[in-house]
This record gives sequence, C-alpha cells and structure tokens, in this order.
Amino acid sequence: MFKITILYGAIREGRLSIRAARALERALKDSGKAEVTFIDIKDYNLPVMEKRLKFMDDPPENLLTISKALDMADGIVFVTPEYNNSYSGALKNTIDYFTKEWAKKPIGIACGSNGRQGGINASNLLQLLVLALGAFPMPYKLLVPELDKSLSEDGTPQNEIMEKNLNRFVNEYLWFVEAISTQSKKS
Ligand SMILES: Cc1cc2nc3c(=O)[nH]c(=O)nc-3n(C[C@H](O)[C@H](O)[C@H](O)COP(=O)(O)O)c2cc1C
Repeated sequence: MFKITILYGAIREGRLSIRAARALERALKDSGKAEVTFIDIKDYNLPVMEKRLKFMDDPPENLLTISKALDMADGIVFVTPEYNNSYSGALKNTIDYFTKEWAKKPIGIACGSNGRQGGINASNLLQLLVLALGAFPMPYKLLVPELDKSLSEDGTPQNEIMEKNLNRFVNEYLWFVEAISTQSKKS
C-alpha cells in the first residue's frame, strides 16, 4: 500500500473543485493500492506565510499536522481550481510553509475549472512550482472542465471521458509513485 496525501487548495465559499479532490480520493482508495490522507486547507486557517515552518521556535499544531502528512507520504497530489490563469493563492501559501517535506516526492497535479479548459494554465504553472520544491511533477495531469457537469457533489464522474481520464490518472500516478518512492527510500 502506498501512503498518498491529497493537498486540496480552495477555500472559496461554494467551491466546486472539491469535487475533483473527492473523486481522486475515492478512485485512489478503490484502487486497493493506496491509503489516502486528505488535507483540506480550509480546515487549517493558515495565515499568510510570514515564516517557514523550519524557522519557527514554537510551531502551531495545524502546521505540524500538515507537515507530518506530507513527510510520511510516498506520494502527494495537489488539487486546485484555476484562478486568473494560475493555481489558487491558498494552495501556494500552504506550500510555501514547508521545505524538506517535498524533497524527492512524486507529485500528481489535478486542476479544475468551470470553463472548457479544465485548469490547463494552472496545471502548467503548478508543474514548474513542483520543480522548485525539489520534487517530481508527474507528466500526465488530471484536468476537470465544467466541474459542475463533469462530477457530482460527491465526486462521481458524470460522463465516460471524465471516468476514463480519472482512471488513467490514478493508474499513471500509482506507477509514478512506485517508481520514485522505491528509489527515494534507498538514498
Ligand atoms: C478569483 C477567480 C478567478 C478565476 N479565474 C479563472 C480562470 O482564469 N480560468 C478559468 O477557467 N476559470 C476561472 N475561474 C472560475 C473557476 O474555474 C470556478 O470558480 C470553478 O468553479 C473552480 O473554482 P472553485 O473551486 O473555487 O469553485 C475563476 C474563479 C475565481 C473565483
């Protein structure tokens, strides 16, 4: 079993992209190969980052909880809506708190929008961000267009293409996590 942490980064009231995060959580669990920890940034109320966790003398419990969930993970998935051609500020703010937690981690990227393009711009920028973390971005990404039509509230795919893309992402991701996490543990 691989330990997978989903970091979901939208805190907007009425957010639709939580559907993509829930869809992935379920598909990963259904694979029978993953134990999933779901971090919903909205639950953590993180202020705008003024100091990284590693420089804090007395870090708050909520940051330590996220740090542990990232640290122990064999693989991480970032899930974000596309805002202004990029990923959400809330996700970026959370990412900036952490450093060593990312080292050599295989990171999957899932983006969604309520338009036709499914967060393609956010996903491209997020792949670049992952490189800056010293982690590995998976080449294949999950893009969810028309979030309100593609997935139900609990994340069930509403059409064949969505279902196919979700399954392909999960299969590719589990391969990617196995390939990288077994190597990382040797070093
Ligand atoms: C501040 C803001 C900026 C947005 N910018 C874009 C964008 O650049 N491209 C796009 O396809 N959708 C954009 N949207 C629409 C989102 O795709 C839409 O809100 C979708 O439901 C995903 O975001 P949510 O999880 O907050 O609901 C934007 C929404 C907000 C709130």
